[in-house]
Amino acid sequence: MQNFIFQNATKVYFGKGCVKEYLACLLRGSQRVLLAYGGGSIKANGVYGQVMGILSAAGKTVVEFAGICPNPTYAKVQQGAALAREEKVDIILGIGGGSVIDCCKAVAMAAVYPGDIWDDFWARPGVVDFEPLPLGVIVTAAGAGSEMNGGAVITNEEKKIKTGRDYPACNPRFALMDPTYTLSLPKEQMVSGGFDILSHIMEAYFSWPDEDNVSDDIAEALMQGVIRDLRASVKDPQDYTARSNLMWESAMAENRILKLGKRCGFPCHQIEHQLGAYTGCNHGQGLAVLHPAYYRRICGPEKQKFARFATRVWGIPAGGKSEEELAHVGVEALAGFIQELGLPTTLRQLGLADAKMLPVIADSCNLEPASCPKITKEEILTLLQACF
Ligand code: NZQ
Ligand code: ZN
Repeated sequence: MQNFIFQNATKVYFGKGCVKEYLACLLRGSQRVLLAYGGGSIKANGVYGQVMGILSAAGKTVVEFAGICPNPTYAKVQQGAALAREEKVDIILGIGGGSVIDCCKAVAMAAVYPGDIWDDFWARPGVVDFEPLPLGVIVTAAGAGSEMNGGAVITNEEKKIKTGRDYPACNPRFALMDPTYTLSLPKEQMVSGGFDILSHIMEAYFSWPDEDNVSDDIAEALMQGVIRDLRASVKDPQDYTARSNLMWESAMAENRILKLGKRCGFPCHQIEHQLGAYTGCNHGQGLAVLHPAYYRRICGPEKQKFARFATRVWGIPAGGKSEEELAHVGVEALAGFIQELGLPTTLRQLGLADAKMLPVIADSCNLEPASCPKITKEEILTLLQACF
């Protein structure tokens, strides 16, 4: 294993009824709560009413910040930060999936930061060192895994850049994770979020160095679990075992444990973020289109790891195949799973109809070097054309 330092500051309360049991005591030291949520799913599924009941019984002053959209924007972050300052809130409580949680982390920073947090943090990996507002989250979707990390992926609509930065001080103080809250997810979102989980694990797994290490051993077990639990959840969306496993697999995929000892660049994510910046596409669906095309490109030079992926994750017997053949079979097993789930397989299916956009999107990508096979902007364009 390579050297690393690991700490995760988020305390997790997992299981049915955890909000009712713990929320009030977790807010004991706070009075003015910024209640942040998305487009209204929490009102439809009853979570809003339950949480508001707990907050009013605890005598909290609630300031609502609603309407956080998928792929949260910097404009929305600034709106939330202004509200948090005006209303002098002392904690942010985010209820939702990755978009709400990411937006809340950014608001927690922007509300107390004197400068332009986009310029000083998202636009360049500058060092920031200050305490954001405290944040607690109630998770309603399995996918992004934002609940247990300091990362926030924000879209700057003006600059057409969607990017994530990780600031450990933004880790939520607590994450309340009740799997029954995910049962109201539309099937399409359950599946795209589930693929996002698999993508996070694969991106870390295929990062360098390629050597035996604990992170990859855990990653293989998690990938097997996600494949099993996604299949079970599609078969029976009310399957609590499968849905609760998916919720924890989502957190495990992004709580930084899988990245220990590895240099993770997340190349597919870097490209997907720009796809999202230009098309507003669903994050997991964008990844489903990109992964097979990207992996077909790199599985030759990285054949050893992809052959291991084929045998240990997809259970494909080596049976006389060369390492290179096995590597390709592993990638096609992933492509087959994407089709089986009914996920999109082309950019057109994501709504990108104009091929003239491809060079613009390719040109806007900037992949972090030294963590995955080098890929030029021309090669990104070829990749986008291959999945158009
Ligand atoms: O608007 P609301 O009401 O929240 O509805 C959402 C939204 O329409 C809905 N939804 C969520 N929980 C629901 C529900 N509908 C019914 N019942 C429920 N229980 O689902 C839609 C999508 O929600 P969103 O939060 O966008 O989905 P997800 O959790 O997949 O998050 C995607 C975002 O996470 C970022 C992505 O870039 C994207 O912006 N990511 C964050 C990461 C991180 N911080 O570590 C890493 C990831 O790679 C990812 O990039
Ligand atoms: Zn993701």
